[in-house]
Amino acid sequence: RPGEGTVRHVLAIDQGTTSSRAIVFDADMNIVSIAQEEFAQHYPDSGWVEHDPEDLWDTVLRTCRNVLERTGLAATDLAGIGITNQRETTVVWDKSTGKPIHNAIVWQDRRTAPFCAELRKAGHDALITAQTGLLADPYFSGTKLKYILDTVEGARDRAKAGELLFGTVDSFLIWRLTNGAAHVTDATNAARTMLYDIHKGAWSAEICTLFDIPLGMLPQVHDCDAEFGTCTPEHLGGAVPILGVAGDQQAATIGQACFEPGMLKSTYGTGCFALLNTGEAPVTSTNRLLTTIAYQLDGKPTYALEGSIFVAGAVVQWLRDGLKLIANASETQPLAEAADPHDPVILVPAFTGLGAPYWNAECRGAVFGLSRGSGPEEFARAALESVGYQTRDLLEAMHKDWSDAREGQPTLRVDGGMTASDWTMQFLADIIDAPVDRPKITETTALGVAWLAGQKAGLYPDRAGFAANWALDQRFEPKMDATTRDTKYAAWKRAVAAVQQA
Ligand code: G3P
Repeated sequence: RPGEGTVRHVLAIDQGTTSSRAIVFDADMNIVSIAQEEFAQHYPDSGWVEHDPEDLWDTVLRTCRNVLERTGLAATDLAGIGITNQRETTVVWDKSTGKPIHNAIVWQDRRTAPFCAELRKAGHDALITAQTGLLADPYFSGTKLKYILDTVEGARDRAKAGELLFGTVDSFLIWRLTNGAAHVTDATNAARTMLYDIHKGAWSAEICTLFDIPLGMLPQVHDCDAEFGTCTPEHLGGAVPILGVAGDQQAATIGQACFEPGMLKSTYGTGCFALLNTGEAPVTSTNRLLTTIAYQLDGKPTYALEGSIFVAGAVVQWLRDGLKLIANASETQPLAEAADPHDPVILVPAFTGLGAPYWNAECRGAVFGLSRGSGPEEFARAALESVGYQTRDLLEAMHKDWSDAREGQPTLRVDGGMTASDWTMQFLADIIDAPVDRPKITETTALGVAWLAGQKAGLYPDRAGFAANWALDQRFEPKMDATTRDTKYAAWKRAVAAVQQA
C-alpha cells in the first residue's frame, strides 16, 4: 500500500520538446534521481518541425528504466506514475499495431498557417475562440490532425472506420504503457487541441465536423488526477498505476502551487509560457491571450489566461548551434554582463513567427541597432533581454484582460532552465517592474505531476499542504530606473513592429 514499506516513491515522466526525462521523487517530494535523453528534431521544410514518435517512446522507456536502475528501486516501489508532456504535438497511430502513420507534428510547426488563414477569412475563428479559448493558429493540434488525415493516403477513411487513434503525447505514451488498454488524456492536454469545448468539458462536435475529424478517434478526457491506466509489467518490471497527467505548462503551474486566482508563473524552456490562474470562471481575452484550463480536479476545471512565446531558451541554443558564438549555454551570462551599455543591439527572435500577443506566423526574426563595435557580448545580451521583453508583452496583455491583476502587480514565479541565470532574472524584474520569485525547486513541471500522482495514491499531502511546501530560493526586485526601462521597452516595441512590416 502507498506509504508503507518502500512503496514511497513516485515516477514523473517529462516528455519535452527536445528531451525526455524520468525523475524519481521520494515520500517527501524530494528528487532522488533524474535520467534524461535528447532525441532528433526533424525539419522537413521551412517552419516545419517533426518528431519520430518511436523516439519519444524509446527515450521515455529508457530514461524510466535508467532512473529505476540508478536508484535501485523496482516498479513495485512506486506508488504511481505522473506524466507531463510537450503540449499540442500531434500523433496518429494504428489502433491494432500501435504504429504511428506519420511523424508527430510538433507544436512549433507552422505548416497549417494557410488553412488557419482560411478559417479566419471564413469567420470560423469566432466559434473556435468561443468554444476552445484558443485562436485559429497552427500552434494547436486540430489543424495538424486535419493535415495528417488530408495527406496520408487513406487515413481519413481508416479513421472513420475506427482504425486510427489521435492523441497528444501523453495519450500516445499512456496507450503504449498500457499496451493499448487506455486511450485517454487529461483536461489540460485536451484544452490545447482546438477540438475541446473548455466550457462544456467535452469534445466539440461542431469543430470536429468543420475539420472533418471523426470523434471516435479522440481520447477519453479525465481529471488531472485519475486512474489513467496501469503500466503493464513488461515495461518497467512490474505493474504501476498512472495517476497524474498534465500538459507541461499546466504541470508547472501546479508545481509552482499557483492555486489561487491572481497567481502567476512563467516557465523558461524552449519557449516561455506564462499562466495566470483566473479561478473557476474562464476569462475571455481581448488582448490575444489564450483562455485555457490550468488544472482539473474533482471534476472542476480551474481556468487560466496563458501567454505563449515560442522562442526563449531556444534563442540561447541558436547562439550556440546556429551562430556558434558560444560552446555552452552558461557562457551567455558572462558575455551579456560584458556588453557595452552604449551599444543597444535588439534581437527579435521570431524564428518561427511570433506567438502571443502578436500571433504572426509569417514574420521572421531580425537584429536591430548593429554598430561596428557590436559583437558576441552584445548579441548575448540582446538574446537574454529578448526573453524579458517578450514576458513584459504577455504581462501587459494579462493586466489589460484581467482587472484584478491590475490591482497590485502579482509576483511572477519563474522556473525552467533559463532561471539559473541571475542576470536574466534581474533583467526580467527590471523590465516588468515587479518582483520575480525563483523557487528552491525549479523542476516544477515534474514536481507538478509527481504531486498529482502522489496525492492520488494517498502518499502526498493535499493542495494546501503542497502549497505550504513551496519555498523561495531568491527574489529579484526591480532596480532599473523608469526612464531606462521605458526607453528600452519602447525600442523593443519598435523592433517588433518592424519585423511584422518587413
Ligand atoms: O506548448 C508547448 C509547450 O508545452 C512546450 O514546452 O517545455 O517543451 O518548451 P517545452
